[in-house]
Amino acid sequence: MSGGGQYNRHAKVQSTAQSFALPLLERAAESAALPESPRPIVIADYGASTGANSTVPMKAAVQILRRRAGPARPIHVVHNDQAANDFRALFLLLESTPDGYRIDDDVFSYAAGRSFFTRVFSREHVSLGWCAIAAHWLSRVPAAVPGHVWLKRGASGPEARFAEQARADWSTFLEHRAAELLPGGQLVVVFATADEEGRCGADDCLDGLNDALKAAVRAGDVSEAEVERMILPLYFRTRAEIAAPFERGPVADQLTLIEHAREVSPDPLWAAYEATGDAGAYARAFTGWLRSFSESTVTSALDAGRPERERQALLDALYARVQGEVERAPERARSRWNMAALRIGRR
Ligand SMILES: C[S@@+](CC[C@H](N)C(=O)[O-])C[C@H]1O[C@@H](n2cnc3c(N)ncnc32)[C@H](O)[C@@H]1O
Repeated sequence: MSGGGQYNRHAKVQSTAQSFALPLLERAAESAALPESPRPIVIADYGASTGANSTVPMKAAVQILRRRAGPARPIHVVHNDQAANDFRALFLLLESTPDGYRIDDDVFSYAAGRSFFTRVFSREHVSLGWCAIAAHWLSRVPAAVPGHVWLKRGASGPEARFAEQARADWSTFLEHRAAELLPGGQLVVVFATADEEGRCGADDCLDGLNDALKAAVRAGDVSEAEVERMILPLYFRTRAEIAAPFERGPVADQLTLIEHAREVSPDPLWAAYEATGDAGAYARAFTGWLRSFSESTVTSALDAGRPERERQALLDALYARVQGEVERAPERARSRWNMAALRIGRR
């Protein structure tokens, strides 16, 4: 995700999409096993990015745990993301959020900069886990996607390789969380998913960026080789793919799927556009959202020798083109994300 506060300014789509999982998090906070007093209660926020969407769920969880554990019991909230995440922006946000989750002097914030496809915590350390809008990111790009910046279902060739990577990553993710959770601990995961036809509900949202890249190749601004490297490692699992590890194997021995809720998320950007009719504002909001999660893929694929100023100009031109196209045809950018929320218990 983009740092420097850019993700935080453009995370409304994600906050709307995760909100239907809050009741599951509250139920998990009510029923998760806690360590014996006076050990601190640990909440893990996996894939936190720069924190904009962490404060609401963490506050909901902290309030319930404070009531359950009584005053003065330390509660540790550990925000996890990749090592390159902008944790500075996260902590600055926590400092400047008056209505945050640090509701008393015994609630503490920490960071763990490591991939969640590895062990992030020691064994039996975490009472409550939360992972929002992150577990549909794969650990790597498993195959080239000819002609596009992400896998579109139905494309022959790379789909099976992406499905296999997603299967392996999901098992790895769950095995590590099973080790980290206390017996009786709980984890809530909310992420984008695919419906029975394999559609995520925002299947065309990267077409504008793809078109802009093709135009940049024609204009000689980027090379075909650079564009071929620009693939977002995203895969949206079906209900069956999500449920499979809980049915048999090492994950099923340790974790149970207590709840599996699904929802089509309303598009907050589109709702604002319908209210105002302002296509220019809609295009800016959509492009800000798109850029906040896609520009790191674009920029890391550019040839290493390109000077910083040139990279910046190229990115600005690409996203300006996307914005112009969305302003001309707003409906094309509208999303109806198919979301899944899971409440998972450690045996
Ligand atoms: C769309 S953001 C979601 C942020 C926040 N949880 C929210 O709900 O808005 C996805 C985050 O997942 C993180 N992420 C992706 N793969 C990860 C991994 N392997 N380990 C840790 N974090 C990861 C990304 O770096 C990014 O910050």
